[in-house]
Amino acid sequence: MLSSKNKEKIYIKCIESIRSNAESNKLKFISKLLFESFDSWIFCGFYFQDNENLLISEYSADKIPCSPIGLDGVCGAAILKNEILNIKDVNTFQGHIVCDEDSKSELCIPFDFNGMKYVLDVDSNIYNAFCEIDVNYLAKIIKEI
Ligand code: SME
Repeated sequence: MLSSKNKEKIYIKCIESIRSNAESNKLKFISKLLFESFDSWIFCGFYFQDNENLLISEYSADKIPCSPIGLDGVCGAAILKNEILNIKDVNTFQGHIVCDEDSKSELCIPFDFNGMKYVLDVDSNIYNAFCEIDVNYLAKIIKEI
């Protein structure tokens, strides 16, 4: 498990890299950069709301993610409640949508972009992978979009 200090270092480097990058597709750049920065992450991507569904936008992952998905999973709940959801064990979340059976914990951060509802979704292959550090830095990163 990453120490808090090392985790912060990784996020600080990521933010520097995002700020200095000219790539116009920020969602693509950010999902790839974050995915490649954390060993335990098996999915990092963005979904956006299309009526009763969520559609995949940019992502980096071990496996091809499911799309469209309903609003009854973790991503949908984060958007509907407009709340950050840090699920320490995905098996405890009723309605969790399994895209990759290796996913053990998941963090979803909803935000508005281009007049639409988006969610940054991150999955890890270890339980309890995410903490306040992830929430704070990922929220900062979303502000860079
Ligand atoms: N687990 C999510 C679905 C998206 S995947 O994790 C990539 C959910 O329950 O909404």
